[in-house]
Amino acid sequence: MSTIPNKFPSLISDDHDDKLLNELPKERFWEALDIFQWEGFWFDPNIIKSAITFKSSFEARDDDVLLASTMKAGTTWLKALTLCIMQNKNTHQTHDEYHHKHVDILTTENPHFHIPNIETITYSTKAPKFDIYDSSAPRLLQTHLPYAALPDSIKNSACKIVYITRNPKDTLISMWHFFNSIYKPHQDPIPLQKAVDCFCSGVHMYGPFFEHVVEYWQESQKRPQKILFIKYEELKSDPKRHVSRIAEFLGRPFGHEKEVDEVVWRCSLERLKNLEVNKSGSVLLYVTNSSYFRKGEVGDWKNYLTPEMEEQINQTSRIKLEPFGLFL
Ligand code: A3P
Repeated sequence: MSTIPNKFPSLISDDHDDKLLNELPKERFWEALDIFQWEGFWFDPNIIKSAITFKSSFEARDDDVLLASTMKAGTTWLKALTLCIMQNKNTHQTHDEYHHKHVDILTTENPHFHIPNIETITYSTKAPKFDIYDSSAPRLLQTHLPYAALPDSIKNSACKIVYITRNPKDTLISMWHFFNSIYKPHQDPIPLQKAVDCFCSGVHMYGPFFEHVVEYWQESQKRPQKILFIKYEELKSDPKRHVSRIAEFLGRPFGHEKEVDEVVWRCSLERLKNLEVNKSGSVLLYVTNSSYFRKGEVGDWKNYLTPEMEEQINQTSRIKLEPFGLFL
C-alpha cells in the first residue's frame, strides 16, 4: 500500500533535535506517519520542535487570547466566532458606521490564516499574518497542544484561554474523514476499527484525546476566569447563549441581541463553507481550506460506528472522563 510520509519534509535537522527524537517512543499513525510521544502525548516531529520552542520562548501578554482544542472539535468555528467577537462594534458606533469601517474579516481569508496555530507554523503555505513571538501587541493564537505543554508565561499571566471539545465519537468520525482526505486521497480509507483502536489507546495525533480534555477541564474548574471550557454540542444547541458567554469571558460583551444574531449567522457552517476563501486554497501544506467544513452534525457517528465500536469508545469515556465529572 502506498503511504505518503515522504510528502512531509522533515524540518527537524540539527543533531540536538535528532537525539531528542531518537529517545522518544515512536509509533506509526494510521499507516501513514511516524508520531512520537512527548510530554505524554503523540505528535509529528515538526510539531514537537515547534512546541519546544514555544514552551521555552513564548512571553505571554495579559491581553493575549489563546484558543485551545482537541482536533476536530470545532476549532475553525471557534476561530471564526472569536474573530467576530473581537471585531464587534463598540456601542458608540451606529450600525452603518460600523459597516463602512469594517470589511467582514471572514471573507478575506480562511479563519486559520487570521488566527495561526502555534505548532504548525512551519507548515504554513504563506507568510503568517504576524509573528507569533512578537509581543508588541496583543495576539490571538490557537493551539492543539495539551495544557501541560503550554509555556509558563501563558499559565501564569492573565491571558485568557478558550477551550473547545466535542463528543469523542463525533470527534473520531470527523478525524477519520479529515485524515483520510490528507493521508489517503483516492485510496481506501483506513479501516474504521483501526481508527477506533488508536483513538481509545490514545496513539493518534495530539492524543490521547481523553487526557487532553481532562487537563483543560480540571484547570478550567480551578480557574474559571482563566479558562472557558466549551462543548461543541452546547454551541450547536444554543449558539446565542454560548457565543455571548465567550464574548463576556473575553471582555467584549454584546450590546444588543442583534449583534449576537449577526455573529452566529456570519459564522454558520453553511455560510463559511460557501465563502470563496474557504472553497479553495490552503493555509497549511496538504490541508485544503474546504476540508475544515464537512457536515457539522451532532451524532453523525451513528452513521458509521457499529454497536461494538460505540461501546468501546463509551467504555473508554466512562473510565477516563466520568471520574472527573465530565460527560461528553
Ligand atoms: P464534521 O467533520 O463532523 O463535519 P475543526 O475545526 O476543529 O477541525 O473541526 C472540524 C469540525 O467542525 C467538522 O465536523 C466541521 O464540519 C465542523 N465545523 C466547521 N465549521 C463549523 C461551523 N461554522 N459550525 C459548526 N461546525 C463547524
